[in-house]
Amino acid sequence: MEDLTRIKDRIEQLRKTINYHNYRYYVLDSPEISDAEYDQLMAELRQLEEKYPRFLTPDSPTQRVGAAPLEAFNTVEHRYPLLSLGNAFSKDELLAWYGRASKLAGGQSFDFVCEHKIDGLAVALTYVNGQFTVGATRGDGFRGEDVTQNLKTIRSIPLSVSREAPPRFEVRGEVFLPKAGFHKLNQERAAEGSPLFANPRNAAAGSVRQLDPRITARRPLDIYIYGLGYAEGKATPPTHRETMEYLKSLGFKINPHNAPVADVEGAAEYYRTWMGKRESLPYEADGIVVKVNSRELQERLGNIGHEPRWAIAYKFPATQATTLLKEVRVSVGRTGTLNPYAVLEPVSVGGVTISRAALHNEDDIRRKDIRQGDWVYVQRAGEVIPEVIGPIKSRRTGEEKEFSLLETLFNPDKGRPACPACGGEVYKPEGEVMYYCANAACPVQLQERLQHFASRTAMDIHGIGESMSATLVGKRLVKDVADLYSLTREQLSSLERMGEKSAANIISAIEDTVRHKRPLSRIIYALGIRHIGEEMANLLASHFSSLDDLAAASREKLTSIPGVGPKIADSIIAFFRQEENEEIIQKLKDAGVNPIGEKAKSEELRLAGMEFVITGKLEAFTREEAEARIRALGGTGRDNVTRNTAYLVVGADPGSTKLARALALGTRQLTEEEFIRILEQAA
Ligand code: IVH
Repeated sequence: MEDLTRIKDRIEQLRKTINYHNYRYYVLDSPEISDAEYDQLMAELRQLEEKYPRFLTPDSPTQRVGAAPLEAFNTVEHRYPLLSLGNAFSKDELLAWYGRASKLAGGQSFDFVCEHKIDGLAVALTYVNGQFTVGATRGDGFRGEDVTQNLKTIRSIPLSVSREAPPRFEVRGEVFLPKAGFHKLNQERAAEGSPLFANPRNAAAGSVRQLDPRITARRPLDIYIYGLGYAEGKATPPTHRETMEYLKSLGFKINPHNAPVADVEGAAEYYRTWMGKRESLPYEADGIVVKVNSRELQERLGNIGHEPRWAIAYKFPATQATTLLKEVRVSVGRTGTLNPYAVLEPVSVGGVTISRAALHNEDDIRRKDIRQGDWVYVQRAGEVIPEVIGPIKSRRTGEEKEFSLLETLFNPDKGRPACPACGGEVYKPEGEVMYYCANAACPVQLQERLQHFASRTAMDIHGIGESMSATLVGKRLVKDVADLYSLTREQLSSLERMGEKSAANIISAIEDTVRHKRPLSRIIYALGIRHIGEEMANLLASHFSSLDDLAAASREKLTSIPGVGPKIADSIIAFFRQEENEEIIQKLKDAGVNPIGEKAKSEELRLAGMEFVITGKLEAFTREEAEARIRALGGTGRDNVTRNTAYLVVGADPGSTKLARALALGTRQLTEEEFIRILEQAA
């Protein structure tokens, strides 16, 4: 019995710790522990819950994923309808809205809160006795779909909140897919031949409205809470701003860019500021929302139809436009993919003129029925390459021409389709949608590979961008990415428009990747293996301790990793089997680029996995310094003594609780001297 109580305590403690770290990571964006430590906590909790299912609760962090697929969604009736917002497209329209509200307010002056209008999917989350019980989509405003299981997979949604919260309440917010996640998802879908999502909003909606929560769980969805639907049994603050602060204190994720403004001019200012910076936001915002701050005044102003009079969406200029698609051309990607793209009649989209847009692959062009000579919708989303969304069929004249990749690539001299860059043969692997250039020495491919290898998220070599890559390949100074490491300062400074100083900088940036070793994940990514994006490279790096280890992995071993399918496995095997690649890797190693896997590295550190607690004052260092030393050797500093604590370091004037706890648990105690000795031995 005693044992069971202890186990239950441990389970509860683990949940608390995990929820706290979840909150740090997903809500505050400020983690305190490594992913590995987090995984360890989760693994322990999962194990205990499996062994003692009686202690399993629906709000356990292990219950976020893994619910069984549904046949269909249930309908949820909203207690209070979810309204939509009226729009203002100009400052005059904003002022007109303000004028109407002001009149109804009887001349009383009032302030506002401004927020980003995030382009995602509205949801309502109900909490009963502190537990997240139902999550629903907006639907028609009165009835939505029960997507609770899917929403539970979103880590920034708390599964439970403090008992101090009202016994029953509903919060509302916007679920969204950050731009980066959206872009990645579409790239993967393009490679798989699945239809692409037109924008992050559709992608978020498609992800939330999945019958299989495991699919939702793989999409990097996030949420910002923007309102309180209702609260029962407890008074809530009198203004919107304080309500948001209150919800934040309960653990909800609130957009840090929300801002109070004193008057409508302040709202216009907020709009101007963010219109200029919208590109830099990690999510798609299609405008701002201006809300009357006082809840009492909100109620007095009421609604008109489906729209509140107390709030308005002030929209940014559209990022979609229509233009003429003049022609479809083909470019060569770094893995040899032959990528169709649209040449457009230049058009301004949200303030930027575009003349080219991505078309992804031939199947996608067919599916959307995009033809050369069509008027098309184009869209620009953040830094993402502009895309052609689809044709305006009503504007067709009959002169439009369907696109065929092989016809476009037909080279009359060779009597066959050929790579537009090198004339190499083209082929399409079975089961894939993309065509490829078969020539491994294709200069454009090499240039793209080089640029990718050096890019910021790969090896991060400053100075080797698009034009430098083209020059190095063009002058035959580099025949593969490993040749970068044998470049000399003289070779570089003899290039046109290249000074001594820039040449030296580039060489030093290259050397830097040897001096400051790059993590294995980056190198896997930098190699440009087909279908291996950043995320997949991270996953692989957490399972293999070196490049050799990865190169030697069998298909079975690779596919046994959750998230690695046969296509990825085959691509990895094909890459390492190719002799040229083997040579490149050998050359990289000879140059000193031999990364150590994140996994192996932390295991090698002598204090890996050990938890230290310090109590009292140390003489040789401050608490922070001591903890930094522990961390540098792979250990962790903790505030409280638990069963996991390896050592309690006891300084002058120690705290009695920690000592008592250490005594009760039999935790080993160290004097400062002993502690220093351990640090020295482990270093
Ligand atoms: S408040 C009555 N705040 O915009 C006010 N909505 O057209 C209801 N949205 O369905 C919404 N960001 O999905 C509000 N900061 C924000 C928002 C926001 C995005 C969406 C929401 C709503 C739609 C209204």
